[in-house]
Amino acid sequence: MALQRPKGTQDHLPDGSPKLRYDLSASAFSRVVGTARQVLERGGAKLIHTPLFEEAELVRRGVGGSTDIVRKEMFTVYYFGDHGGFILRPEGTAGVVRAYLENGLKQLPAPLKLWTHGPMFRAENVQKGRLRQFHQVDYEVIGSADALVDAEAIELMVRCVQQLGLQGARVKLGSIGDPEDRERYNAYLRQSFTPHLDRLSDDSRDRLERNPMRILDSKSASDQALIAELGVRPMLDFLGEDAAAHFAQVRTYLDAWGVHYDVDPSIVRGLDYYRRTAWELHHEGVGAKSALGGGGRYDGLAQELGGPETPAVGWAFGIERVLIALEAEGVSLPASKGPLVFVAALDAENVGLAAQVALQVREVAGAEFAYRALKPGNVFKEAQRRGATYAALIGSEEAARGVVALKHLGSGEQREVSTVDLKTTLLENA
Ligand code: HAM
Repeated sequence: MALQRPKGTQDHLPDGSPKLRYDLSASAFSRVVGTARQVLERGGAKLIHTPLFEEAELVRRGVGGSTDIVRKEMFTVYYFGDHGGFILRPEGTAGVVRAYLENGLKQLPAPLKLWTHGPMFRAENVQKGRLRQFHQVDYEVIGSADALVDAEAIELMVRCVQQLGLQGARVKLGSIGDPEDRERYNAYLRQSFTPHLDRLSDDSRDRLERNPMRILDSKSASDQALIAELGVRPMLDFLGEDAAAHFAQVRTYLDAWGVHYDVDPSIVRGLDYYRRTAWELHHEGVGAKSALGGGGRYDGLAQELGGPETPAVGWAFGIERVLIALEAEGVSLPASKGPLVFVAALDAENVGLAAQVALQVREVAGAEFAYRALKPGNVFKEAQRRGATYAALIGSEEAARGVVALKHLGSGEQREVSTVDLKTTLLENA
């Protein structure tokens, strides 16, 4: 049997005939990244890229030892002579903060807005919208504790998906408080669940010890039934004064700007580094369990990684999930464009000349050429298959006079243009 790609990965294919079996359209994918780039860079964010693999310790400390990601989903990287101290990054934030600290980015004007995009790896159970290699657009603002930065981050996230044409995305906003609020809440959760240990799933019994809040995020139906039955109070009830004031301030900004959100009092994020503001972006097309994106404030992360105390907030959305949501709404992103012109010779002697003409056009626009002589009818057919706007034909007569026969494929209009003028003519009529 022919070899196949690993489970939970996708090929991103060029747009082609609908007969192709698509995983993902590479051009739709890059459209999402391009739109995010425009939105985020207009907001002052600078592009950063960090390695796809990092020290396992970075992820353990960053993402947190009690998370599913660290406990079950890390892809370990081995190479000759190494003992598996590296892992494929499951998310972008820990790497970005490491790079910020390591490269002294503190010198840049604060708060520093960074954005990145690329593949992330988690060994999850594969299902629709849940992959083992997926891709994120990620935005991080480092160096401010101001609620205004949180509100701006949320606005930018919403703007990214709206700019792509997505209408039905909803922000679920909450706060998971300061560490001391979390401690009080965890104590409350331990107290609530301990008498019902026998009804908790194995995973959740384990969570009760390590990080009780994670029980609320359990995928087990019986855990969820118990949570409902016990009427477990939400984290939001346990916010201290400072965290509550910060949360109120974030809401005030969002309300004033007309950014819609629903308060979700029991929001739990799947990573340990969050403090205070936490949110997720949801969409019906992706299902209630899976978010389009998520983010929050993580003021303690830099210290966890050995740096000075550095407040920060950020988010990431999954590109594949955004594409699923767009499809569910029937929004189609424009396919990649064909060349402006397809140049072909009508006889073998002029194949090189046709190529040369195309090479010149490439200084200003997309141009392809035929690798062998074609009959006129086939030139048009081939030009159309490639999605070209024009076809340029060179027979021996045209070659002798230094011209091409230029046909606009849409209107059928045809005229002669000197090869010297072709570039300008095409540009004027593009
Ligand atoms: P996260 O919630 O783990 O947050 O992931 C963000 C988004 O990545 C998810 O909402 C989802 O769209 C996508 N995603 C996650 N896992 C998968 C998967 N297995 N398959 C497909 N898509 C997936 C973070 O990663 C944080 N680093 C976000 C952040 C940035 N917080 C602060 N700054």
